[in-house]
Amino acid sequence: LTHGGLDVTVCDPLPDVAERVRAGLREIAPTLAQLGLCVDELTDSADALRFDPDAASAVAGTVVQENGPEPPEVKQQLWSAIEAGAPANALLASSSSSGIPTSVMSQAMRQPGRLVIGHLFNPPYLVPLVEVVPSPGTDPEVVEAAVAFYRAMGKQPQVLSREIPGFVANRLQAALFREAVHLVAQGVVTEQELDAVVTSSIGMRWAVAGPFQTFHHAEDRYQSVESSALHDSAPSGPTRGEWRSRNRFFGLAHAGSL
Ligand SMILES: NC(=O)c1ccc[n+]([C@@H]2O[C@H](COP(=O)([O-])OP(=O)(O)OC[C@H]3O[C@@H](n4cnc5c(N)ncnc54)[C@H](O)[C@@H]3O)[C@@H](O)[C@H]2O)c1
Repeated sequence: LTHGGLDVTVCDPLPDVAERVRAGLREIAPTLAQLGLCVDELTDSADALRFDPDAASAVAGTVVQENGPEPPEVKQQLWSAIEAGAPANALLASSSSSGIPTSVMSQAMRQPGRLVIGHLFNPPYLVPLVEVVPSPGTDPEVVEAAVAFYRAMGKQPQVLSREIPGFVANRLQAALFREAVHLVAQGVVTEQELDAVVTSSIGMRWAVAGPFQTFHHAEDRYQSVESSALHDSAPSGPTRGEWRSRNRFFGLAHAGSL
């Protein structure tokens, strides 16, 4: 957020939080500079960064991005305090990536509809995705405000239609990791070999085309190998029959027929 040009107040009870944050910013500055980005705001002299251990006064700004500890009761206390101290029109967003739904975190709030999850991805200064996850009670205007804010920060927000543990990106990572562990446990490859397979193939591919786009382009090839046990062998993958009907569905969807 500092790099996005905002005045930022960090609220954390750690006594050495200022040193830790400034050290972290110094650490990432060379990477950002290498990418041609301005890092002036990240230097020690920048007065755009303030530290305030008191939540009531720290949350006086127009956006509160909460990154507190995970236990649900801590999140609930934190959100109750933030709501009491923040301006009535402030955007209230939690970075939580855990299985704690927005609807649980907001339980102690007077207006739970103000809270939305804005889940950034590590490292957040480089990765564009922000998963915006409302609870069933989140005010749609809050979702719109969150999307507008993250876009203004140069991010790529993606709204999820409903709460689901792990959201989307982490669920995909978990699914792949499950198969990675399975392959290593079976002795097919070592951990290092599996990492090399991913970084030299699908890691590169998925950086430019997601699984569905790739699937659509490779439709014919996949059909030609359908007699193999490939798709039935994935532990949680679709059966060949499901694969075939999904293939037809997504083919039509991509062709604009659905
Ligand atoms: N670590 C990640 O990669 C990652 C990625 C995306 C989202 N998140 C989410 O961000 C949140 C924080 O994760 P983390 O890994 O940094 O946790 P962490 O436990 O390392 O850090 C939590 C911080 O909150 C501070 N804190 C404790 N009580 C506080 C209070 N009352 N007010 C203000 N600050 C308080 C702690 O001193 C600590 O610095 C979690 O909700 C997590 O799901 C983490």
